[in-house]
Amino acid sequence: VSDLVASPLSTDTSPPDSPLRRYAGIVDDVEALIASCSTPLPRVVWANPLRGDVGEIAARVEANHPSVERLRWLENAWRMPPSERPGNWVEFKLGQIHAQEEAALWAVPMLGVLPGERVLDLCASPGNKTAQLAIATGNTGMVVANERYGVRIDALRFNLDRLGVTNTVVTNRDGHGFRYDNEPFDRVLADVPCSCEGTARKPHGNRRDDDSAWRAQIVQVQVGLLRSALANVRRGGTVLYCTCTFAPEENEFVLNSISTEIAQIEPIVLPDGLHAAPGIPTWEGREFRADVKNAARIWPHHNDTGGFFVARLRRI
Ligand SMILES: C[S@@+](CC[C@H](N)C(=O)[O-])C[C@H]1O[C@@H](n2cnc3c(N)ncnc32)[C@H](O)[C@@H]1O
Repeated sequence: VSDLVASPLSTDTSPPDSPLRRYAGIVDDVEALIASCSTPLPRVVWANPLRGDVGEIAARVEANHPSVERLRWLENAWRMPPSERPGNWVEFKLGQIHAQEEAALWAVPMLGVLPGERVLDLCASPGNKTAQLAIATGNTGMVVANERYGVRIDALRFNLDRLGVTNTVVTNRDGHGFRYDNEPFDRVLADVPCSCEGTARKPHGNRRDDDSAWRAQIVQVQVGLLRSALANVRRGGTVLYCTCTFAPEENEFVLNSISTEIAQIEPIVLPDGLHAAPGIPTWEGREFRADVKNAARIWPHHNDTGGFFVARLRRI
């Protein structure tokens, strides 16, 4: 994780015209952050190895869609202008490619899933990361994809079917108190509901960044889901906690609610060409456990992406 974090002396005197100004003390350039969040997001797609040879899929994508540009940090993945509609491409309909936000795309590899493992995706719909988890298992082992809200199950199933995922069980339960077969998992992904500040660049990005009462309530949901993720992983196994928001309340604060005797937060090693800032040690007078610095926060203006936060916890 690079050191793209503001100096503790950084101050901001400009008018509070954007809720993102609350981050002036923890980001290197709040004006660049605000400017980036007001521009449309480039679209990103990746080739799906479950639906053919990725080299052949790559050749087809590059021949059929001249606007695509290879991602500099991930093979067989491309970005393109926001005006493109890859969901209408024949390669998408055939499941040969999937569209996913670039800032969210790098998270699942940080979980370190191996072929044959037993993996839980606690908050799964619409299944972008479930598909990545299934691919990481080699479509072997077992993935349990859980989603609380029934209306979001169709989208999850549709994506998994289209992408050729065959090792995944879909469940429709509250992630709090979740149990499956009373067997612990090797890895658990907790990609929790959040205020979605990092999705502001999307056409329908939904942000709740100026509603502090709502935020106080979602933090309790996030703490409960992270505890449930840790209760479902075996000792020595790993949990990935993610949000698409910048707010320390929904990130470092949630991590800080976990005892250091239950889990350690391990360093995130980012792919070359992708920049992130480390977790912050304090926020509004509150000091966090020392290992939150091992988490990684993606600011949109550093990579021309959305925003994201990832922490990898090892169950003791
Ligand atoms: C950030 S989204 C997950 C995105 C998904 N992982 C992906 O990459 O496609 C969070 C999901 O958690 C679901 N959710 C909200 N509260 C939940 C709960 N208590 N238990 C399980 N899922 C929940 C939401 O409906 C939403 O689909």
